[in-house]
Amino acid sequence: MTSPNIPVHRATPDRVAALGEMADAVFRPHQPPGQGMPREFPHLFSAENATNLYYVESAGTPVSMVGVLPQQMVLPGVTLDVASIGSVATLPAYERRGISSAILQRVISDAVAAGFPLLLVSGERGLYRRLQCVAVGQMWEAEWTPFDAADRVPIKVEEVPEDERFAFAARLAELYRREPYRFRRTDAEMAVRLNALWTQRKGYDQRLFTCWEGGHLVGYVVAYRENRMPEVVDVMEWAGSRLAVADALPNIQRAFGAARVRLRVHRCDTTMQDRLRQLGVALRSAHVQGTVRLLDVEAFFAQVQPLLEERFGERAAVARHGDVWTVQVGDLRVTTEDVGELTAWVFDAGGGLDLEFPHTDDLNYI
Ligand SMILES: CC(C)(COP(=O)(O)OP(=O)(O)OC[C@H]1O[C@@H](n2cnc3c(N)ncnc32)[C@H](O)[C@@H]1OP(=O)(O)O)[C@@H](O)C(=O)NCCC(=O)NCCS
Repeated sequence: MTSPNIPVHRATPDRVAALGEMADAVFRPHQPPGQGMPREFPHLFSAENATNLYYVESAGTPVSMVGVLPQQMVLPGVTLDVASIGSVATLPAYERRGISSAILQRVISDAVAAGFPLLLVSGERGLYRRLQCVAVGQMWEAEWTPFDAADRVPIKVEEVPEDERFAFAARLAELYRREPYRFRRTDAEMAVRLNALWTQRKGYDQRLFTCWEGGHLVGYVVAYRENRMPEVVDVMEWAGSRLAVADALPNIQRAFGAARVRLRVHRCDTTMQDRLRQLGVALRSAHVQGTVRLLDVEAFFAQVQPLLEERFGERAAVARHGDVWTVQVGDLRVTTEDVGELTAWVFDAGGGLDLEFPHTDDLNYI
């Protein structure tokens, strides 16, 4: 329930600019107001998405906000609606009065009422954990100095200049959409995303590389280097041929003049894991970035039924008594009043359903 003392508003298109400026005052204070977050997250701060920007105002000016971007997450066999949350900010003079908590509670109750099955939040702080958002999933992460593989014909790697990214968007989106764990992304969204996020952020050098084999576009890599950590190139997103991307990494590292490359590999991507192990690269396990919570529990299990039937041979039986949920899928069963615990049971191993989550720290997140 939203605190009755804190009225929470949903924005209209004419309020989007003021909210972008408020978010910049908190997250990008060294940039001209409105030139930071709105350019990094153009889908979030758009007129079309205005109604999903929640805020609290004082004397007609926003002082706290939470941004929501409705997304669709693709797992093999199903597509799930997700309310992605970001840009959670309160101006310093208004902090610690429970304003962000009140906005988030309103977001959650609206999203449950709208039948959203899942909430995805950018952070892991107490603010989110108190709302039963939990860290889930597992991915593989590696950081190493890549070297040219002797057993392969070299892949041609080309850096795409900024003014050509738009022209490549549709072809790269095609490669992205072949990934089994991902978010839905149109060609137009790909074009916007390639030119947003870190490319718009001071202090980050982000570049796009394409990988070619026999004249065919077979993969791409979006990588960035943070000015204050120049020795590491972080691969934010990649898609396409595993061999081509792995073999492109020495070139990409050299293009940045960095010492090491950091790359994340989906836990179901055994081809890339095998290739990296073959190259002697050590992989370590990490949680998927951010936190997650089931919202409309019944809607969630209804949407994942095809996947559960295929994997477990049965539909989920979902029952609610008061605040207590009982969910049974085949021999697996959980009874809890903690939605966070239920969320972990769905996405983690260790006795639960172990549904694999896509990566969230790529061009998708919001
Ligand atoms: C994080 C942030 C959004 C919190 O905003 P806020 O309006 O102060 O949030 P709340 O008041 O609801 O809760 C903040 C803290 O105050 C405490 N609090 C809430 N009501 C309180 C009250 N009446 N009296 C005292 N403390 C209170 C909460 O316990 C909470 O602490 P915790 O998160 O460390 O556990 C704000 O500090 C901010 O903008 N920070 C910079 C940007 C940022 O980091 N955003 C999050 C990105 S993941």
